[in-house]
Amino acid sequence: MAKIAIVYYSLKGETIAPGMKIVNLEKGHTAAAAEFIQEAVGGDLYELETVKTYTKDHMKMIYEAKEEWEKGIRPELKSYPDLSGYDTVFIGFPNWWNTMPMPVVGFLERCDWKGKKIIPFVTSGGSGFGKSIEDMKKYCPGAQIADGGAFLGHEVENSKQQITEWAKQAIQ
Ligand SMILES: Cc1cc2nc3c(=O)[nH]c(=O)nc-3n(C[C@H](O)[C@H](O)[C@H](O)COP(=O)(O)O)c2cc1C
Repeated sequence: MAKIAIVYYSLKGETIAPGMKIVNLEKGHTAAAAEFIQEAVGGDLYELETVKTYTKDHMKMIYEAKEEWEKGIRPELKSYPDLSGYDTVFIGFPNWWNTMPMPVVGFLERCDWKGKKIIPFVTSGGSGFGKSIEDMKKYCPGAQIADGGAFLGHEVENSKQQITEWAKQAIQ
């Protein structure tokens, strides 16, 4: 049986809900999706957390994230999960500026992907993966990148069945 890891990044705190409403989340949307996936297929769950804290004010935070991408900054993580014992790795992240957050980039490029299958999943305000899969191919040489699952952030909490079904077929 495949040895599965589920690795995700998710922002806690202020986020934008439909209608440009700012809401405060105790658990991010991608974190909720990652937990549904683990319930569905088992495996080990790893959260990527930055040492730094992003600006609390959401409207300022989104420009902080944009600057990281533009300048190629890889924010340091509290820990870097060792994926050497896994052959199937779900990688989950929110869509930030049409791609993946830089903390995820910083993690991906440190791993040895040869012979591993990546199953990406994203939560977004509507853009789905954007160009993140294209970018992922650059940062994960040697990986086989499977078709991913894209979920609307604000609907994740009510999409357990859909996410469960997707995760189960994704590991086949
Ligand atoms: C910095 C930043 C940039 C974002 N850029 C996009 C975007 O380009 N397209 C989109 O559909 N959603 C975008 N969003 C919305 C998030 O992808 C969405 O709210 C996601 O579900 C958040 O997941 P999380 O709660 O796990 O962090 C952005 C959010 C942030 C914080």
